[in-house]
Amino acid sequence: MTRIISLTTIVAALAATAAARPAPSTHTVHEKRYGHHARWTNPLRIRSESDIHVRVGLKQNNLHRGHEFLMDVSHPDSANYGKFWTEEEVTQMFAPSDESVNIVKNWLTESGIHDVRITHTDNKGWLAFVATGEELENLLHADFYEYKDSETGHTAVSTDRYHVPKHVKEHIDYITPGIRFPFLQKRNALRDPLRIPTPPHIKAALSTSDSNCAKAITPDCIAQLYQIPPVTVSPSPDNSLGIFEEGDQYNQTDLDSYWAAYPSYGIPNGTHPILNSIDGGEGPGKNVQGESNLDFSLAFPIVYPQNITLFQTDDQYWAFSSQGLFNTFLDAIDGSYCTSCYAGECGNADIDPVYPDTHSGGYKGQLMCGTYKPTNVISISYGAAEDYIPQSYYERQCNEFMKLGLRGVSVLFASGDSGVASRSGCLGNSSTIFNPDWPASCPYVTAVGATKIPVNGSVSGGEVVANDPAGHPFFSAFASGGGFSNLFPIPDYQADAVASYFANHNPPYPSYSGSILGENGGLYNRSGRGYPDVSAVGDTIPIWIGGESVIEGGTSASAPIVASIITRIIDERIAAGKPGPVGFLNPVFYKNPDAFNDITQGSNAGCNTAGFSAAPGWDPASGLGTPNYPKLRDVLLAL
Ligand SMILES: *[C@@H]1O[C@H](CO)[C@@H](O)[C@H](O)[C@H]1NC(C)=O
Ligand SMILES: *[C@@H]1O[C@H](CO)[C@@H](O)[C@H](O)[C@H]1NC(C)=O
Ligand SMILES: *[C@@H]1O[C@H](CO)[C@@H](O)[C@H](O)[C@H]1NC(C)=O
Ligand SMILES: *[C@@H]1O[C@H](CO)[C@@H](O)[C@H](O)[C@H]1NC(C)=O
Ligand SMILES: *[C@@H]1O[C@H](CO)[C@@H](O)[C@H](O)[C@H]1NC(C)=O
Ligand SMILES: *[C@@H]1O[C@H](CO)[C@@H](O)[C@H](O)[C@H]1NC(C)=O
Repeated sequence: MTRIISLTTIVAALAATAAARPAPSTHTVHEKRYGHHARWTNPLRIRSESDIHVRVGLKQNNLHRGHEFLMDVSHPDSANYGKFWTEEEVTQMFAPSDESVNIVKNWLTESGIHDVRITHTDNKGWLAFVATGEELENLLHADFYEYKDSETGHTAVSTDRYHVPKHVKEHIDYITPGIRFPFLQKRNALRDPLRIPTPPHIKAALSTSDSNCAKAITPDCIAQLYQIPPVTVSPSPDNSLGIFEEGDQYNQTDLDSYWAAYPSYGIPNGTHPILNSIDGGEGPGKNVQGESNLDFSLAFPIVYPQNITLFQTDDQYWAFSSQGLFNTFLDAIDGSYCTSCYAGECGNADIDPVYPDTHSGGYKGQLMCGTYKPTNVISISYGAAEDYIPQSYYERQCNEFMKLGLRGVSVLFASGDSGVASRSGCLGNSSTIFNPDWPASCPYVTAVGATKIPVNGSVSGGEVVANDPAGHPFFSAFASGGGFSNLFPIPDYQADAVASYFANHNPPYPSYSGSILGENGGLYNRSGRGYPDVSAVGDTIPIWIGGESVIEGGTSASAPIVASIITRIIDERIAAGKPGPVGFLNPVFYKNPDAFNDITQGSNAGCNTAGFSAAPGWDPASGLGTPNYPKLRDVLLAL
């Protein structure tokens, strides 16, 4: 299962705000709004004497060198492989420059905001001050209005455009209050459609000692497929598998049923992940839709007795109503992220949860910033399409995954369950263009696709790309997510693999490569980052939900399997006297395709096509293939 986010509705700006205030020729428009949500109504010009909290977000420094820095510590050929950075080193490197701080401060003081009124926040990302309405309007050459949210009654101050001096523009990301509206949209609590009650013939197959892996995937099947040996080294206290959850909780009784069904793994009843509660997130709980149960059921038999850390994110209100995804989690594991700025997004964008949460039952603490240490490996089975949220939001998150890699964290994402489409469908006027998945398409995460054992197949007979038409076995169609990003270009570590795919197994569809979507009838972006990177089995997996045995599937299952394998290998590295963390995995993976079982059959259907076909070598359906534990261990232990 991957989480989706509903589309926003934009309407034209109200006539009341249409007349833009002129600005002097020394100034330029910094941000401009083209419309806003219809529910924001009743604009009233702000009173000139009202006090307004203003924050000026400063541009981060050195971001353009992030890729180079990350490759320096993650590429197996680099002399600095594994020399990961501390959190402080990362913060320092990307903090806004003194030059930016001085130029912006000078502009403010020359505009009458005296130095003693300006606070430079601890993390260096913001200049903050209180201004009167008149001062704000004069500073930004803008008319500000207070709007009312017709659904919640909340008010927000906003303008349709504002100006800054030309020489200041490049040092600022954005200013609040600016052109934004806090955006609260109810997100549907999705029941996972990739699920059916376990049919009797599969129950029968499970009860025999000779488990039939083509009928149902058990922990034994996963161990056999990837040659995962029993645990031989003591779990290190410096290791734990991190798993992200939001809007879904695990049920201990369901996990216990799983432990009891596979007694050879020796997992006692009551075994559960260690909760790192983020902004009021609770687990276990009553909201059991299946994602958490699936993730922990699959991961524990691989990593036990190593621990799993549950990053349960957002209180019950925001876990279902926020449009954004992952930012509060990233805030909680990196203090510099809470307030840093990039490409128009500073701190939490208005589509993210707000803490303290004033809603009934809401989390009353402050937004968590750098509260938890990230685990060495983090698995995330949630996502959406690249076209849901402004590009700047994704770019900022993608850079954060880069920074986590610099710190030695391996981040793995499920690649999506809709093949070359997304659950929101396909792109273009006639909905024919492939729709890439986010954050799988970020070049600084490891995207994991799903495979299956074909009907009548066997563990030794090889896997194929998971691609099930509706009703076989799930209610809705399921195809492993894959394709090419529209936002991120092909990264260097992958360039040869992608070129080889195009040269030897050219897809039968027209493509585009410039900035015009669908140019020349193209269906996919030939200059985009290809995904997934790797795969693991993700189909026909019996687990328990609410006391019932059900069949689950999806790339949701695949990501925690690969993440568990990496966690195990980190324990082996530590036992061998090496530093544990392996950080961003892709440069090592693409240099060592032999550590994966090449998947050459199947495709990832979507947008009324068969999708991309698997082929020898890397392909945008199965990536490099599924892990071979002994080979991958040898590769990672040699580093
Ligand atoms: C796992 O977590 C428990 C509870 O926090 C702790 O007592 C134990 O030492 C941890 N195990 C390892 C290997 O770190
Ligand atoms: C563990 O819990 C499951 C689910 O409640 C139950 O079926 C099983 O009998 C329990 N096992 C033990 C040893 O208590
Ligand atoms: C699987 O095997 C059964 C029994 O031999 C056969 O009836 C069925 O057609 C096979 N299905 C596929 C997809 O090969
Ligand atoms: C296709 O990818 C390239 C490289 O990332 C990018 O510059 C271009 O804008 C993308 N095209 C579209 C239509 O998104
Ligand atoms: C969609 O339709 C508009 C208006 O006809 C056209 O300008 C644009 O090129 C079309 N886009 C695609 C991807 O076909
Ligand atoms: C967990 O599942 C068990 C078995 O179906 C059920 O009795 C229990 O109420 C569930 N617990 C929660 C908190 O939902």
